[in-house]
Amino acid sequence: MKKIKISELKAGMTLNNSIQCDFSYKTLLPKGTKLTRLHLEKLKNINPEGYCFIIEPEDLKGISLETLDKVNNEGVKRAFLDSYITGKSIYQNLACGNPINIKFAYETVDLLTEQLLSHCSLMLQLAAVKVIDEYSFSHMVNVAIYASSFARSLNYSPNAIKDICLAGILHDIGKAKIPQDILQKPGKLTEEEFEIIKRHPKLGYDELNKIQELKEHVRQAVLQHHERANGSGYPLGLKGKEISLYSQVISIADFYDALTSDRCYRGRVLPHEAAEILMGSSSLNDFDIELVRLFLKNITLYPIGTEVVLNTGQRARVVHIPVDFPLRPTLQIMEPDGLDQWIPAGRLELLKETTVFITSIISCS
Ligand SMILES: [Fe+2]
Repeated sequence: MKKIKISELKAGMTLNNSIQCDFSYKTLLPKGTKLTRLHLEKLKNINPEGYCFIIEPEDLKGISLETLDKVNNEGVKRAFLDSYITGKSIYQNLACGNPINIKFAYETVDLLTEQLLSHCSLMLQLAAVKVIDEYSFSHMVNVAIYASSFARSLNYSPNAIKDICLAGILHDIGKAKIPQDILQKPGKLTEEEFEIIKRHPKLGYDELNKIQELKEHVRQAVLQHHERANGSGYPLGLKGKEISLYSQVISIADFYDALTSDRCYRGRVLPHEAAEILMGSSSLNDFDIELVRLFLKNITLYPIGTEVVLNTGQRARVVHIPVDFPLRPTLQIMEPDGLDQWIPAGRLELLKETTVFITSIISCS
C-alpha cells in the first residue's frame, strides 16, 4: 500500500498498480491504465485532499466493509479508513527501514479530528465495533479515536486534541521494530520475550526523535504510554504526576481498547467488563481513578443500535443510554417472527431491572 500525491501523477503515465481512491474498495483505475487528463480530474474531484492510494488486494483483508457501510456518513468513514491506511503504511514502511512520513500522519490527524469534533459518537461507534480485524492497525486508530474524544470531553483545545490524536496513531509505532513472531505469539510470552516487547515505547520515541518538527509532548506521550501511576509501568517506572497528562489519556484509551479487542492469546471482553477491569486497575493506582471515571463516562460502551443478548436469553437492541449510567442502557426487546426476522417486542430499562444484564454483543449498527 502506498499513499501518493495526485500531483505526482501525469497524463500519459501507465499505472503499474491499480489506484483506489474512493474508499469503496472498487478499483477505479486498474493496473495498466494509461492516465489521461480526465482520469486526473476524476481523481482530484473524488479526493479533495489531493492524494490517493495504491492498494494491493491483501491490504483490504481484515476490514469489515459490511459493518463500515452501516455508518451513514461518508466523511466519518473516509476519515476512519484514511487513518487506518495511513497508520498501516507508516508502520509497514518503518518496519522495512524507511523513515516515518510525518506529513501523512498530520494530514490524517486533521481529517480524523475534524470528523471527531462534529460526529464524536459515530466515531466512537466505529472504534467500538472493531471494523478492522488486524489488531495492530485497528488498535492505533481506535486509541486515537478514544483518546482524542476523551481529550475533547476534557475541553482540551483543538490543537491539543490533534496532538493527542497523533500520539494515539503513533503510540505503538516502536512495535514495527520488534520481531513479528514475538508480537503475534499465541501463547504466554517468556520473560525474555516480554522484555523485548517492553522496548517498544523507547524504540518509538527514538524514531520520533528523528522528526524535528514533532512536538516533544507527543514524543513523551509515546514514550510514557505504558507507565503506571503506582510506578509499576515501563520503561522508566515513572509515578503519579511524573507521567504527562497526554500520556495518561493515551494509556487509558490503550488499556480499554486492548481489553475489548480479540488478541492472539485471548478473546475480547465486553465493554462493561472492561470498565470493571479498568476501575479495578485504578483502585490499585495503575491509573488516576478520576480520569478513568471521566473516560468511561465519555465513551459509548454500548452504542445505540448495538444488538445484544441478555442473561434471560432474550435478544435486544440498545435504544437509549442514560447519561450517568452508560452500562445500563434502555433496550428494545426483539423476538423472532417465525420467518427468520426479528421484530420489536417491548422495551426494557436495565436501570430498573437490576437482575438483568448483557452477556454478549451480536452486532453493532
Ligand atoms: Fe504499547
